[in-house]
Parts: sequence; structure tokens; C-alpha cells
Amino acid sequence: MFKCQNFNYAVFGNPINHSKSPIIHSLFAKQTGILHIYKSVNVPLDKFNVFLQDFFKQDGQGANITAPFKQEAYFFCDKLTKRAKIAQSVNTLKKIDNKYILGDNTDGIGLLSDLTRLNFIKKNYSILIIGAGGAVKGVLFPLLSFGCSIFILNRTVSNAKKLVLQFYKYGNIDVFDENSSKIKSFDLIINATSKFIERKNNFIPVSLVSSKTCFYDMNYQKDKKMFMNWCLKMGNNLFSDGIGMLAFQAAHSFFLWHNILPKTDYIIDILKK
Ligand code: ATR
Repeated sequence: MFKCQNFNYAVFGNPINHSKSPIIHSLFAKQTGILHIYKSVNVPLDKFNVFLQDFFKQDGQGANITAPFKQEAYFFCDKLTKRAKIAQSVNTLKKIDNKYILGDNTDGIGLLSDLTRLNFIKKNYSILIIGAGGAVKGVLFPLLSFGCSIFILNRTVSNAKKLVLQFYKYGNIDVFDENSSKIKSFDLIINATSKFIERKNNFIPVSLVSSKTCFYDMNYQKDKKMFMNWCLKMGNNLFSDGIGMLAFQAAHSFFLWHNILPKTDYIIDILKK
């Protein structure tokens, strides 16, 4: 049996040692005065359901879910918020009435909040998203609802097509294709691949990048600098990594659990250091 040893909130993933969620949530707890003991748990790849069941049977009240379990978490829940249902991906769980598990996805609102903070997004923006994995599923609905047009560029085109089929009813979304694209230049380019590699299959014509194009990397790990290096090579300074998104998605998870939205500004500064 998985022993949760008196912590009531946790992030579950594999690998998990890189996770900054325990630091963020201990800062939220301090800021709000809410006692919430938050740990990280490395889950064997075939044990997600067992670990989560044990956690909620013991002291577990709420959980964050990270790669590669967001899809499994979606199927684990008894109830879902609208945005989690649409994303078919869950990053936040909450035990309700000691009876059932509610699933939410705060990745999209986290990204949108950070893009707003950075002044990287406006209604009607054309956005290119590189990647079509689980991370993208969580952010498409909020970006489309905001009024942006989205193009997806991915190594495996069929995965990009699947996302377009899942989300076209919520706004303007298409697979990026150099020939079919009618846009003059992208307002924002987001890297959502786990491994950005500059090569033929993610080649973006320079003509679609302007001096006003913003670049956002949903990754934040120090060893993942390929996208930033590529942006700098393009001569563009409007770049941010995803540390703000991480803080905002955590704040919205905290809000689901405790009904208080913690401040994130100074936390982003701490995390950047
Ligand atoms: P996550 O849940 O974090 O999004 P994922 O579902 O494994 O992780 O998706 C990773 C994304 O990075 C996918 O878009 C993947 O492309 P494919 O759909 O072709 O697999 C992309 N990716 C991973 N490694 C890549 C590489 N070496 N080159 C280009 N794209 C890569």
C-alpha cells in the first residue's frame, strides 16, 4: 500500500524530482495562512490508479497531476469541470464531500494569466503552437475562448490533426501548413514540445516572424534552452519561459481547493532566481 504519511496535498508524476510545486504551495500556505501539507510523489508508470486511490483513502484532499498521467487522471475522476471535460486532461483533483473526486485543468488559465501578465496576448492574435501532446490539450480551450486563432505545428502531423478535430468547435484552429497559411506573421509562438529541435519538421518561415512576435516556452527547466536559443537566433527579444504559467496554474489549483487565489508575482520572482 502507498503510504501518504499525513500529507494532504501532493503532486504525482514520473519523474517528479524536478517539480517546483511543493515550493510554490508551501509559499501559498505561508501567504494565506492555510495549513496544507504538500509533497511530491513519484508514481511507478503502471501504478497511477492504486497510488491515487490510496492517497484519497488516507489523508489526501487534493492533488496535482503531471506528466505522464494527466490523461489517466481524466479517467480517474468521478466529476469534471467544464474545462477539464473539454481538454480531456486533468492536472488538479479535489476530494468533495468525502465521497467523490472532482477533476479540473488549470494549465490553460495558468498560461493565459501569464501571457496577460507579460502583455503577450490580445484578442484576435494569431498563435502558432509547436507540439501536439498532453500539454497542448490543456491550453487550447482557454486560448480559443479568448478569441485567438491557433495553428498547430507538430512532428507527427496526425497528432496535430487529432487536436484540430477535438477543438475546432471552440474557435479558429488549424494544422500549420506553410502553403495553406493566410497569416502575415504570428503574434505569438508557443513551444509545447517536450524536446524542441530546430530542424525541417518544425521549420517556421522567417517571413512569419516579425519584430513584434512574442515567444513563449511552456518548459521552464534550465536544461531546456533550445527554443530560447532559436528565438535569440531569430533576433527576437520578446521571450519568456513557462515559470509564470507554473505559478499561475498552481494558484488556480489552490483556488479550487481552498477558495482563495494566492498572489503569484513575488513567487515568480523567487522561482526565477
Ligand atoms: P506532454 O504531455 O508534456 O505534452 P507528450 O504528450 O509526450 O508530452 O508530447 C510531447 C510533444 O513533444 C509532442 O508534440 C511530440 O511530438 P509527436 O506528437 O510527434 O510525438 C513532441 N516531441 C517530443 N520529442 C520530440 C522531438 N525529438 N522532436 C520534435 N517533437 C518532439
